[in-house]
Amino acid sequence: MDHQYHELPNLFVFEDGAPVRTVEDWQRRRLELRDMIFDLQYGGFPPQPAGVHVEDLCISSPMQRFAKARYVTLRVVCTTEDGKGISFILNYYLPQGEGPFPVILTGDACWRNTSDYIILEILHRGYIVALFNRVEIVPDIRQAGRNTGLYAVYPELEFGALSAWAWGYMRAIDALLTQECVNPEQIAVVGHSRGGKTVLLAGAMDERIAVVGANNSGSGGAGCYRWQGPKSETLADNMKKFPDWYCPRMLPYVGREHELPFDQHGLKALIAPRALLTLEAYDDLWANPTGTWQTFQAARETYRFLGKEDAIGTWYRAGGHGHTTEDWQAFMEFVDWQMRGVAPGRQFDGNPFPDLPSAYSWSAPAKDN
Ligand code: GCU
Repeated sequence: MDHQYHELPNLFVFEDGAPVRTVEDWQRRRLELRDMIFDLQYGGFPPQPAGVHVEDLCISSPMQRFAKARYVTLRVVCTTEDGKGISFILNYYLPQGEGPFPVILTGDACWRNTSDYIILEILHRGYIVALFNRVEIVPDIRQAGRNTGLYAVYPELEFGALSAWAWGYMRAIDALLTQECVNPEQIAVVGHSRGGKTVLLAGAMDERIAVVGANNSGSGGAGCYRWQGPKSETLADNMKKFPDWYCPRMLPYVGREHELPFDQHGLKALIAPRALLTLEAYDDLWANPTGTWQTFQAARETYRFLGKEDAIGTWYRAGGHGHTTEDWQAFMEFVDWQMRGVAPGRQFDGNPFPDLPSAYSWSAPAKDN
């Protein structure tokens, strides 16, 4: 099916039909929405470990080619009450100068899409660049089964890979917060494609995250189930090829996406009022650029309700799927704006599709408090 358009569910109505009127109502509604989305779509979330311990493995000398930054290697060891555990490597580039510094964290080390050029640019802006490899938490290979990584730590739980990777972001943040050079108020996360789906989930879960950057994240990310643009990936496409990312309870909704009790604007709204940028590409039709625009507008209603309309942005570039230098630059401009008030050189709310009708007919209620 090429086109499928249905009204997006109203974020401001509880499941029992009661309206959201106040910010306190929204906080309760947010938890209701969060638990529903996490449970149904992602198979729940792995628990917080009983302990997170950081081993210092190496601090390099200042590196000339990275503006004299040092490269730090840590092992993050997470343990459960009964002594089971998992560990992974976290690296960061530490800029020269007086900290504490804001941080750009990505778990996409498996894709090596953070070029030296980008790292240098982020360092020049005065940020720490932190990297871990989310596939150390659970592999990105379906055939690997569940007898591995974090799945083996919690064999009784049914969380999918996206939840496990998002959990990895949270543990990386636990570790970063043990480092004196880190500004705890200024942690941004960024990921591409399935990594973009992951950071949306991490941002929805972890309020320590100040800015989320989801790049070309598509179905199960910033996309939309009720608004499938031409040639965009459907729930069926995504679940057939990558069932291990999700919860099998989503399967009955294949072909009945309009019956889902949520859509992806709900996931975005969970991040509010913290900052969120979705980055899209006009020719990346598989990632549903028009549907992503719909979820952006609908989620913005929540930001508007909370008085933080400027904290949600979207940016479209020419071309296809990829985490390009242009994407990184747009993201860094957004982060500089959100964290430091530096006026951006571009608009993050420009309408990329002025002729599209709206996928929803409700709006943020007037606040009743
Ligand atoms: C596939 C998948 C997408 C995903 C992408 C990626 O194309 O269908 O949902 O975003 O891989 O992660 O690169």
